[in-house]
Amino acid sequence: MTSKRVMHLGAVPYGTGGPGSHTLWLDPEIPGDASVDIAWYAEMARLAEQGRFDLFFIVDSQFITPYSPPHYLNRLEPLTLLSALAPQTERIGLVGTATTSFNSPFNLVRRFGSLDLISGGRAGWNVVTTGDAGTATNYGLDEHFDYDTRYGRAQEYVELARALWDSYEDDAFVRDRESGVFLDPAKQHVLDHEGTYFKVRGPLNLVRSAQGHPVIFQAGDSDQGRDLGASVGEGIFTHAADIAAGQAFYEDIKGRAVNRFGRRPEDLVIMPGVKIVVGDTDAEAREIEAANNQRDHTFEAALAEFGRPFGWHDFRQYDLDAPFPGEALRHGERSFYTQARAITQRALENGWTLRETVQSTRHFRRSEFVGSPTTVADKLIEWWQARACDGFNIGLDHPANFRRVVEDVVPILQDRGVFRGDYESSTLRGHLGLSVPENRHTTARHRLGAAV
Ligand SMILES: Cc1cc2nc3c(=O)[nH]c(=O)nc-3n(C[C@H](O)[C@H](O)[C@H](O)COP(=O)(O)O)c2cc1C
Repeated sequence: MTSKRVMHLGAVPYGTGGPGSHTLWLDPEIPGDASVDIAWYAEMARLAEQGRFDLFFIVDSQFITPYSPPHYLNRLEPLTLLSALAPQTERIGLVGTATTSFNSPFNLVRRFGSLDLISGGRAGWNVVTTGDAGTATNYGLDEHFDYDTRYGRAQEYVELARALWDSYEDDAFVRDRESGVFLDPAKQHVLDHEGTYFKVRGPLNLVRSAQGHPVIFQAGDSDQGRDLGASVGEGIFTHAADIAAGQAFYEDIKGRAVNRFGRRPEDLVIMPGVKIVVGDTDAEAREIEAANNQRDHTFEAALAEFGRPFGWHDFRQYDLDAPFPGEALRHGERSFYTQARAITQRALENGWTLRETVQSTRHFRRSEFVGSPTTVADKLIEWWQARACDGFNIGLDHPANFRRVVEDVVPILQDRGVFRGDYESSTLRGHLGLSVPENRHTTARHRLGAAV
């Protein structure tokens, strides 16, 4: 596809408050049970759709402690949630996070295929390997898989998923009342997959949707994670500290995709998560940000949550003003290791204490996307034009703030011609400018036909 490059926008709802937002739920506009309230999600999804967003993005976790963020303590399962949102929305993409570490492929692939049909080709799957190591203990294991196993499973899983989604060629169901022929059996395909991690016969008992397959997103930043994204990802969910970090990541992932996996740069769309605060003026927006930071990110809450990438290791046992305890990194080996290692390296290089290290975490950092609607729009365009990203996954925290993004920032992006004025497609692939994968068996049949 050689269409004009456009910016892509996603909304990531954090209900009663995600990481670092322990008091978001105090906002009177947010129901106390927002994270399990389908009416609240539907309202937010429709607001994002009013803003012509590409997608609504549900992150997930399955292991909690009393110190987990409020949204994580009590939240709906993503596929159930998105299936309920599908008939309440019309165009917006519906992306759900699901792990390849603790799901059986046939079951999960079937559920995403179902969401894709229910939504008319708007489903996306954010492939994760699960950062919270304790999740393993909810699935009969004493500890999480090591990295090679996690990413080995993920790679095989996605390839298997795509093969299962191709079980039926698009014209397999004849449904001819005259002849009484329902199915052309030659167009139903058994898989007989037997790989390193999974054994699945197939076929999947589900046809393809209008977009062929759900869109594959990927989130995970290690070398293996980046290779997974570059080889099979069509959307990449990431974090970028600043424009230079975004550019480096963008170049690395697209470079891997092209050089190692023979793909085109436009075959994958990179969307870092960002925090936006809109005010009438830049000064007012910075005041709102500072007030939010002060309220939402108390040091005590940040310290309790700080251990998450380290397998929820409890850092409250250490002297806050002693040098950062670098040996704690080993607790993160099967958790969010890339993040834990980066935090540890930064702390040791700078000679920080534990207190300084906790304060340096992203919860306390000022966002670049804070200001008047024009300032925010300018910043988004600057990043996008500099190819620090192809778009943004915007954290949906305070609804009033998100409303300002939709009503005040998006129109500027539209006026500047970088964002769509209206939807031009009915599928998520269409919104993201991704091509529809042809069914592999149909391709093979055509090749064979051409060769005869
Ligand atoms: C931006 C980003 C978002 C993620 N979102 C989730 C999530 O919603 N649920 C989850 O279980 N893991 C999530 N992960 C965890 C990854 O799948 C992975 O298990 C973890 O980051 C460790 O792998 P890594 O060292 O390759 O990053 C996320 C990771 C990143 C970088």
